[in-house]
Amino acid sequence: MKRIGVLTSGGDAPGMNAAIRAVVRTALYHKIEVYGINRGYAGLLDKDITPMNVYSVASILDKGGTILRTSRSDFFPTEAGQKRAAEVLKEYNIEALVVIGGDGSLNGSLCLKRLGVEIVGIPGTIDNDFGASDYTIGFDTAVSTAIEAIGKIRDTTFSHNRINVVQVMGRTCGDIALYAGFSVGAEAMIIPEKPTRLEEICERLLIGKDRGKLHSIVMLAEGCGGYRDYCKKIEELTQVTTKGTNLGYIQRGGAPSHFDRNLASNMGYYAVEAIIKGQTGTVICQRDGKYIAVNLEDALNTPKQFNEEMYEIAKVLSI
Ligand code: F6P
Repeated sequence: MKRIGVLTSGGDAPGMNAAIRAVVRTALYHKIEVYGINRGYAGLLDKDITPMNVYSVASILDKGGTILRTSRSDFFPTEAGQKRAAEVLKEYNIEALVVIGGDGSLNGSLCLKRLGVEIVGIPGTIDNDFGASDYTIGFDTAVSTAIEAIGKIRDTTFSHNRINVVQVMGRTCGDIALYAGFSVGAEAMIIPEKPTRLEEICERLLIGKDRGKLHSIVMLAEGCGGYRDYCKKIEELTQVTTKGTNLGYIQRGGAPSHFDRNLASNMGYYAVEAIIKGQTGTVICQRDGKYIAVNLEDALNTPKQFNEEMYEIAKVLSI
């Protein structure tokens, strides 16, 4: 193995830079050249490719975003796009590719694998929706960011005796809402994995109010819809002034937490180790604190487990 490539794809996530750094440094340690592919698969198709050295990744461990930048390519999902991508990799003598991204990006990797490209994936997305790995890069930081913001929302919600519906990201996965909600003691959670009638949620909020609760935080996962409709309905049902906040893109930025730096650095290291050992066509997953290279197709077919216990405990603690 003489040369590998690395790219980030899909939504950026805090810790992606730590993963890039680990890929580059581990490869250079083993005397393997690394080419950075800018703007994800779109950059690969455009040949937006540059050699990286030990200095290219200096002082990025603590930076949010991705120095390679990212994109969602329209052309790449086509057969023609994938063929061209494989050809470009050949043209640059890139013998193996590390792809850091969410399941959409890793599905793209599977297509490249089928065209004979040696691929190792790293799950990087704030959504934590990749079933084969206990955690994805960026999730922990996104939850911490949400917790900090909700603390501020709680101050004003308390002062005005209101309800505040806090919408968080996650696509169809409710993990950001669940983990942040658990950590801030949210009074209710609206998440895709646990469809609950709004009447039931409002009854709970009113029971809390009767017992003396002066305000309530309702976590809303974006996969269940937008906060505006929920605010209207909750206000109608409870007769309590209900405001809403969409935390939006602040969840995707900022310095990665120690957990994400650790996770990303290990995943980057083990991705290159997997390439050296010939374990390509895989994705590096963390399971019970250990790092393993899982067959890419199997990983993509692994359903995401919902943390039922956390959800139930949150209900008990938020009465
Ligand atoms: O997948 C990460 C994510 O942040 C999702 O939580 C969100 O739905 C989506 O990306 C937003 O994507 P975009 O940056 O294209 O608006």
